[in-house]
Amino acid sequence: MVLELPFEMEFILSLTYRCNLNCSMCTQYGEGFKQQATDDMTVEQWEAFFESVSDVNPKPKMLLMGGEPLLYKDFEKLFALTQKHGFNVQIVTNGVLLDRYLEQIAKTNTTITISLDGLEQTHDSIRNRKGTFKKVMENIDKIEAHQKAGSKIELCINCVMLPDNVDELSEFLQFIQKKNIKTLTFQHLQFSSPELNKHTDTQWMKRLNKPYAGGLIPPKHYKIDKNYVEKLTKAIDSLKDVCKTTAFIFPALEDEEIENYYLDKNLDEIRTGRICTTPWVNPTIHSNGDVSNCIGNIIGNINQEDFWTIWNNEKANSLRQTLCQNGKFTICAKCCNFYKGNFIYAPATLLRINNKLLSLPDEINFIKSSKNGVFILDKYRDKTSENATPVIPLETFTPASVRNLQKTETIVAKFSELKGA
Ligand SMILES: C[S@@+](CC[C@H](N)C(=O)[O-])C[C@H]1O[C@@H](n2cnc3c(N)ncnc32)[C@H](O)[C@@H]1O
Ligand code: SF4
Ligand code: SF4
Repeated sequence: MVLELPFEMEFILSLTYRCNLNCSMCTQYGEGFKQQATDDMTVEQWEAFFESVSDVNPKPKMLLMGGEPLLYKDFEKLFALTQKHGFNVQIVTNGVLLDRYLEQIAKTNTTITISLDGLEQTHDSIRNRKGTFKKVMENIDKIEAHQKAGSKIELCINCVMLPDNVDELSEFLQFIQKKNIKTLTFQHLQFSSPELNKHTDTQWMKRLNKPYAGGLIPPKHYKIDKNYVEKLTKAIDSLKDVCKTTAFIFPALEDEEIENYYLDKNLDEIRTGRICTTPWVNPTIHSNGDVSNCIGNIIGNINQEDFWTIWNNEKANSLRQTLCQNGKFTICAKCCNFYKGNFIYAPATLLRINNKLLSLPDEINFIKSSKNGVFILDKYRDKTSENATPVIPLETFTPASVRNLQKTETIVAKFSELKGA
């Protein structure tokens, strides 16, 4: 039987936590995960999971991540299985080993996101290995050669903004946009502190009766102060002058939010009323089969139980419930998932997956976007905000997601009806 969902689920598959690099800012989502995810699953175990989520409409998206996903021992077989099931696939990779699998990947319409954090010297020093930049650029050229030969693969670039590269972001943008890239994302550094983690631990104990297992502390200690925030804000501003491609700042923090985000100020006041939809629509499957619905919230293991049973179990729902009833955790303001523009899907997920109506926040935020010349920044404002214009940039949606959006609107209306009743 096909499971009909009013939204597209996006699974993050951390195929392995092994890595061939050792980047200065990489938290790999916390020490806790590394300890829990020591043994990589076999390709047969992945296939059993794919079977269980294959008969879903719309087809879920599979984001292959890690660690370095291309180090997964049976990558070729695993990738072939994703294609057999017809999943929409995106690979997020440091790009070093791409040539091993490019022939195979180029026969599909996969999106390849390569992480590139600056020009040669800067990138190699952030990634802690000389020659990385050169190798990645060679592989980008190979991608372009496949595209010229008719391949439907698409290339996206992800660049983490850091004190190490803040001075050359514009130069990097000018350089990289000469390549045939679909989107370029400048990502804000995700980071926590021992104090914030301790605070989160207390919140988790109180609200979920278990300790917080996130982490989010980068191995390198960055000096992040007011001066850096000013420098970064100016650097972001200057990108607009040179940008000729589709570029995003993610999360799309408003100017006044950047300082609070980086200096851990007023985190509870950032976008109050908004909650993250990851616990509903973005399952992470870790390399050992553990499933989580939020950083650090392990809710089961697919080698022991069916995915859908796990996704609707008490551990999964208690997190959803506390978000709806008590609002976000303080650390959510420092987590990229919090800023994803899919809030609109939350009520729909509640209705369809739990099959009963849980309590929901009163405000529903809608996706907004403003175009500033060629530079696109996604802005999220409250539905009630005076200057919010409900512009939904349809060209940035795939046909499937537009269909889902329409369905979701119907469900939101239904939800309001139920809530009013
Ligand atoms: C954890 S990596 C895994 C995939 C692959 N190994 C790679 O480097 O692309 C996924 C993405 O997160 C980015 N990243 C790593 N540490 C980060 C941090 N502290 N804040 C924001 N992004 C980070 C990486 O640059 C990469 O684009
Ligand atoms: S960012 Fe990617 S390549 Fe770098 S250490 Fe983390 S997982 Fe490895
Ligand atoms: S934003 Fe909050 S709820 Fe969502 S994944 Fe991050 S920590 Fe979890």
